[in-house]
Amino acid sequence: MAISEFQSLDAPPSLVSPKRRGTILIVDDEEGPRQSLRVIFKDDYDLLLAADGGTAIRLAQEHDVDVAVCDIRMAGMSGIEVLERLKYVNPAIEVVMITAFETTDTIRQALRLRACDYINKPFEVANIRAAVANAMQRRTLEGEITTNAEQLQALQAELQNHKINEQIAQTRGDIYASIIHDINGPLTVISGFVQIMNQRVGNSARLEPEDLEFVKDRLKVVTRQVTNCIEISRRYLGFLRRQSDEAPRVGLNQLFNDMNHLLRVHPSLQNNHFQIHSLPEDIGVRANGTDVIQMLLNLCVNAFQASPRGCHVEISGEVIRQPLDLRRFKDSPGERLLNMESFDNTAPLARLAVRDNGPGIPPEILPKIFQPYFTTKGPRQGTGLGLNIVQRLMKEARGALHIETQPGNGTTFSLYLPAAPLAR
Ligand SMILES: Nc1ncnc2c1ncn2[C@@H]1O[C@H](COP(=O)(O)OP(=O)(O)OP(=O)(O)O)[C@@H](O)[C@H]1O
Ligand SMILES: [Mg+2]
Repeated sequence: MAISEFQSLDAPPSLVSPKRRGTILIVDDEEGPRQSLRVIFKDDYDLLLAADGGTAIRLAQEHDVDVAVCDIRMAGMSGIEVLERLKYVNPAIEVVMITAFETTDTIRQALRLRACDYINKPFEVANIRAAVANAMQRRTLEGEITTNAEQLQALQAELQNHKINEQIAQTRGDIYASIIHDINGPLTVISGFVQIMNQRVGNSARLEPEDLEFVKDRLKVVTRQVTNCIEISRRYLGFLRRQSDEAPRVGLNQLFNDMNHLLRVHPSLQNNHFQIHSLPEDIGVRANGTDVIQMLLNLCVNAFQASPRGCHVEISGEVIRQPLDLRRFKDSPGERLLNMESFDNTAPLARLAVRDNGPGIPPEILPKIFQPYFTTKGPRQGTGLGLNIVQRLMKEARGALHIETQPGNGTTFSLYLPAAPLAR
């Protein structure tokens, strides 16, 4: 038996483009019913015919079947088994079972296996037509729902990306504000000295030698402050420019210095203390300076905010002259190493560590903290984007991110970044 009978009656199968009028798979081991089903449906759908279960499964694997009409009682593989395997090939295929003298148990089993309907043999043409039309409608609806869900998911991902970029831009805005803040100091000095010089020489027709000395002396201060302004703007503009392959111009100690300025006035500081240890021997990192400040700031603010009663945060740097021995790191309930797939483990490396003696991170939370929008802070208090941004920026810089924590005993975040000697 089991001669496969595969026909798509209106066109050869290879020419049938899927999904215009729906495809029906008819499975019956008896020639008579198989042919009568063919005649009933040939004008409305593309058809595939199978005389046994094995052929039916193969056809379902090779073609995009929407609805199967399957006889329950067949020699060889039973209709129930065919139903089960068709759902395995593609759970979206709707199956209408054709029953003869089956017990309610068999019918119940078919429905449990997600057959969408059953029709008694001998069947009325109107009944089988209605059952198949219903099944086809369900299949189309399900397809639409899946497409909609996929579109929604894509939209959500896009929105998430957009929000993260917005957050990055916002911190960049904070850095612009601090440029203005830093330049404001020297500008105040310059404007004060210019006023004093104006008062001294403004109305005199000629300068006495002591006036000249006075002006020269004040001009030195002004020149020093102007140079200062230029340095500050150069440094920040360098931060904001994307990193190139050139030797870094800004060293870690300078970044630490800027961090110090930012943290001293940060609203989250409150009862917390911080200490920054500069490096005995300065080095540059092959990363965008703004990004480094942004990452350190995120980590410090997290530590401050995790400790309502106040904690101590230490920021330190270290130059590592060998590639990291990755075997000494492990993923455990209190430790994680991230971004290994993009890490450039070439010496020299710089390790920037932010250590706090706050409450630590519970093991059930640790795997989630880098997910976008994960936060343990109340609504409106945290976006849950901070650590996700840190992880993204580290990936861009081809660095690795390590976290070690113990409930009650604080947390240390370490950023391992490719480093290079400073440009002269
Ligand atoms: N140093 C830390 N100590 C204890 N828990 C921390 C620490 N750093 C992060 N966490 C936990 O990780 C979670 C996620 O941090 P993340 O910076 O991504 O978002 P957030 O700080 O909650 O929100 P936002 O950054 O927008 O303020 C925090 O809600 C907190 O539970
Ligand atoms: Mg945060």
